[in-house]
Amino acid sequence: MAGVVLDGVTKRFGDVRVIEGLNLDIGDGEFMVLVGPSGCGKSTALRMVAGLEEITGGTISIGGKVVNDVPPKDRDIAMVFQSYALYPHMTVKQNLEFGHKIRKTPQAELDRLVAEAAQILGIEPLLARKPKELSGGQRQRVALGRAIVRKPAVFLFDEPLSNLDAKLRVQMRAEIKKLQARLGVTAIYVTHDQVEAMTMGHRIAVLHAGILQQVGAPLELYERPANLFVAAFIGSPPMNFAQATLTGGATAIQAAGFSIPVPASLRAAVSGRDGARVVLGIRPENLVPPGKEPRGPTAPLAVTVEIVEPLGNEVVVHARAGQDTLTYKQDPHRPTVIGSTVEVGLELDALHLFDATTERRLGA
Ligand SMILES: Nc1ncnc2c1ncn2[C@@H]1O[C@H](COP(=O)(O)OP(=O)(O)OP(=O)(O)O)[C@@H](O)[C@H]1O
Ligand SMILES: [Mg+2]
Repeated sequence: MAGVVLDGVTKRFGDVRVIEGLNLDIGDGEFMVLVGPSGCGKSTALRMVAGLEEITGGTISIGGKVVNDVPPKDRDIAMVFQSYALYPHMTVKQNLEFGHKIRKTPQAELDRLVAEAAQILGIEPLLARKPKELSGGQRQRVALGRAIVRKPAVFLFDEPLSNLDAKLRVQMRAEIKKLQARLGVTAIYVTHDQVEAMTMGHRIAVLHAGILQQVGAPLELYERPANLFVAAFIGSPPMNFAQATLTGGATAIQAAGFSIPVPASLRAAVSGRDGARVVLGIRPENLVPPGKEPRGPTAPLAVTVEIVEPLGNEVVVHARAGQDTLTYKQDPHRPTVIGSTVEVGLELDALHLFDATTERRLGA
């Protein structure tokens, strides 16, 4: 087993910079999720760790050893792709054995490894079938099985669940998480899905346009996003934002149609910035509708209900406050009338403030 360290890793395709000075220190046995929108460089980063893509600058180490010039087959990694990449003419068993045939592992040992992986993944009854005789979920299990059989020091996953339907995705998500915990193998998991990132990762690295935005535990990113990009990317329904100005000697946050006091926790961070443009960020759960108990001090905010989205366990309400539309969550058994005005409480200790120019978080 081994940690993985990326130190100042850069990738250019011709003149196009795809990854910029990427630093990541992934611990032995850690489950690291690399998340970001399409085209941000996730797959490229992963393929560089795998050795499938040359790096333009920096170093990558696996288990303390620089692997920049080590070919993929000698890196002690196993990769699982979105496309499964199974050999169609081989049976499941042959697919599972394939990596070892090249390494000339004795057949008895191979039988043991395959049986063990098949048992872990519950695919024993499928060993004699060809990939075309399997469902998508079963194919993905075989692809996982092939990675397990190789007994690598590091698992690399590139959107392994995106070909599966929503229900199976949730199930496989839990299975991969369990599997990684059971085997204790370091894992780097690439996804564009923030829910997958939040639910699976020990830590999450958020990538945007080839630049690392923030690395941290899921709750750390959720509660203290380092900038507007991370704040908007993590969380569903997403964080509400309102353009605002600091007024009254930086004691108030003035948005287009409402004003709230600067909470005590942010006073030091905004001191001396009267007149500065900021972006106010409010998670939907921190706008508390009537009938719900708020946490800590609140500022009252009159909003007009525009859209109501029932989800069963809760209702997501879109409401207007001045020129801003804000969402909050409501008990489904309380009637919400479109067009009505409601007074919600804004939990002051949970609000987020960002510099409108740098987009960086203000305060801790
Ligand atoms: N061989 C290549 N030559 C030129 N540009 C490339 C090459 N491979 C990738 N790119 C570019 O590098 C950027 C990052 O691509 P990458 O595949 O790493 O994105 P990604 O984050 O995995 O996206 P997705 O979520 O869509 O899979 C993209 O803008 C892509 O067009
Ligand atoms: Mg990709």
